[in-house]
Amino acid sequence: MRILVLGSGAREHAIILALRQEATEHEIFAAPGNAGIAQDAVVVALDPTDPAQVTSYANEHGIDLVVVGPEAPLVAGVADELRERGIPVFGPGKAAAQLEGSKSFAKRVMEAAGVPTGRAVRAHTADEVAAALDELGAPYVVKADGLAAGKGVIVTDDRDAALGHAAQYLGTAPVLVEEYLDGPEVSLFFLSDGDHVLPLSPAQDYKRLRDGDDGPNTGGMGAYSPLPWLLERFGGEDAFVDLVTTTIAEPVVRQLDAEGTPFIGLLYAGLVLTDAGVKVIEFNARFGDPETQVVLPRLVDPLSELMLAAASGHLEDMPRPAFAEATAVTVVLASEGYPEAPVTGRVLTGLDDAAAVPGVHLAHAATGRGDEGLVATGGRVLNVVALGTTFAESTQRAYEAIAKIGLAGGQYRTDIAARVVED
Ligand code: AMP
Ligand code: GLY
Repeated sequence: MRILVLGSGAREHAIILALRQEATEHEIFAAPGNAGIAQDAVVVALDPTDPAQVTSYANEHGIDLVVVGPEAPLVAGVADELRERGIPVFGPGKAAAQLEGSKSFAKRVMEAAGVPTGRAVRAHTADEVAAALDELGAPYVVKADGLAAGKGVIVTDDRDAALGHAAQYLGTAPVLVEEYLDGPEVSLFFLSDGDHVLPLSPAQDYKRLRDGDDGPNTGGMGAYSPLPWLLERFGGEDAFVDLVTTTIAEPVVRQLDAEGTPFIGLLYAGLVLTDAGVKVIEFNARFGDPETQVVLPRLVDPLSELMLAAASGHLEDMPRPAFAEATAVTVVLASEGYPEAPVTGRVLTGLDDAAAVPGVHLAHAATGRGDEGLVATGGRVLNVVALGTTFAESTQRAYEAIAKIGLAGGQYRTDIAARVVED
């Protein structure tokens, strides 16, 4: 197949590496990509958020499948345009992508579909925010009602801080005040053809910047998969996945279909396992980053066939994707100053040594070529991904590898997957 992957992060690199691992060889194009992606795909200089540019490129180059990595092209209507021109695309149209882009849209769809989620109040003024905070109680959760790359949320016991966070957005947009959902978080991905869904294997993401879940929320500082503790709580991964499939993914996909906005692509369910059951914290309309970096290396079936089946409405004919028993861990290396003000342009060293550690590979997030070699071009720079038989082995490998990488001022968490190492 000739496959065009839109995006430039470690998620897109992970997708491309999974495509490259298949028995069938593909011609892979990436726009705009990064320096790491350029080693594994033909990098194309086109704007991934421009529907006309993407469509004419796909037409001119006989692309069989377009895979949309990030949310921005979805919200810009790139998938709509491709689908209109008959080009298979893995990614929802603008309307269905609101499931991620608008928190209030997502809440409405969940309510209509009977999907369990926390209570939420949409507030337009500081007084409304204050009333909602008092009604729902501490810990307080306040969210911007739009795309914020995981950074528009505050979770705090400090009422003034919650009010201050809301004040940043009020005036330009309303905010959501949400009930705090208490429990472990799980990310579970579903492939959807608009009608049928197929689940992937669950992962856990580390959203906070520092060890011990301290510091600001980020796009994600690390992840691991599978989740061994699902055994104790649900009797195993399959029982958990079945539960989420039937109570969350299928009702939402059916609801969107009934509304005339079918969801074709990757449905990301961000879940909290509360004492009152599994509840949705958020949906995304795309693969999660960094969870994808630990889920896809364990996928046994060809990713291209699954994505093409979703894009062309044939998921019903596909078996449920199988996953290797292996444990997978990823640790994100971020630039100094991330997430507030990342310092970019600094030189990266030691990548070959890191990748030479057994079971380790690198997924590039924000790298480019400078005069002195590879340089960091953004906040999250690289993902070290390690596979192993046990989590003790995969975490040891990931940390041995990341220690070999040089980046002045670079930061990473040292406790990724620590909670599952003894399992
Ligand atoms: P979001 O932008 O909705 O993905 O939120 C980012 C992170 O904030 C989540 O992954 C949670 O860790 C936390 N968070 C968001 N909403 C809630 C909530 N209602 N209860 C508890 N934690 C939350
Ligand atoms: N890892 C969180 C996200 O992709 O939104």
